[in-house]
Amino acid sequence: MQNNKRPESLARITTAAAAEKFINEQIAEVRAQVGDKKVLLALSGGVDSSVVAALLIKAIGKQLVCVHVNHGLLRQGEPEQVVEVFKGQMDANLVYVDAADRFLDKLKGVADPETKRKIIGAEFIEVFKEEALKLEGVKFLAQGTIYPDIIESEKGVKAHHNVGGLPEQLGFELVEPLKFLYKDEVRVVGDALGLPANMVYRQPFPGPGLGVRCLGAITRDRLECVRKSDAVLREEFAKNGLEGKVWQYFTVVPDFKSVGVRDGKRTFAWPVIIRAVNTKDAMTATVEDVPFELLQHITARITAEVEGVNRVLYDLTPKPVGTIEWE
Ligand code: XMP
Repeated sequence: MQNNKRPESLARITTAAAAEKFINEQIAEVRAQVGDKKVLLALSGGVDSSVVAALLIKAIGKQLVCVHVNHGLLRQGEPEQVVEVFKGQMDANLVYVDAADRFLDKLKGVADPETKRKIIGAEFIEVFKEEALKLEGVKFLAQGTIYPDIIESEKGVKAHHNVGGLPEQLGFELVEPLKFLYKDEVRVVGDALGLPANMVYRQPFPGPGLGVRCLGAITRDRLECVRKSDAVLREEFAKNGLEGKVWQYFTVVPDFKSVGVRDGKRTFAWPVIIRAVNTKDAMTATVEDVPFELLQHITARITAEVEGVNRVLYDLTPKPVGTIEWE
């Protein structure tokens, strides 16, 4: 049986020196565990999988095969950053899979949020499995499991997010170097491994990505509105000192249009809804008091720069009664 209890000897990692010590111990452990075999990792670009990737690249170099599946629902610049950081800077063995069309075709006409989630999850496993089967000599699957995942899965709060039972199906053994760390410790380790700050201190981003922010049945043009408006919001929050202060912020585009006017002509276009919330555990959340002038500036930018949009709204609803995501 795997030991899933954080060792008492592991002091809280808060300094670069403690992170270095942890990294060196893990490098030795991983090398002992995997020998000369290959290790596969689904690299989303999120904090946990990015830190696992950087750690394993240090430990076993090209024996690690990272698979980055672009499901077409990532934020602007994300797939490019994954390729740049891991292939460009760290010289990783990275397989980039552009599966956007596959996902968007499967999602065509599907409006129910939970069905959308299921399709995205199942298709992700399918794509990842196809890539795994193309490779030879893979014996291990690395995962960015962290300690709260283990605690929550033991309490039955959420299923342990193995890549959908893949390890069992493909006979892989798990490599989980971060499994005793809390999120703040993962970030300290990520810093020590030289990952860029905007990767290490990223806001939470749901697995189904922009798919649950392009409300109802996803269309490519409306998905572009979500992506572009989200990019404007993130840029403005970064410029105005809100990045790193606000827990989660994003835009949502519903599947209805309203009447507007531009250059003296009637328009019929989508609204963009801004959401910016603070929370400790995502179970409850309060709305960030974004300065009104900044909201006006963001509104001006989004309506000028994002095609197909003629209104911008700010979501004032705390959780409860609204959830953080709209779907
Ligand atoms: P809600 O909308 O339930 O969101 O208030 C709470 C937190 O969970 C994130 N979230 C998800 N994360 N897959 C994920 O990986 C999902 O399907 C999903 N749905 C919501 C949400 O972004 C927020 O941080």
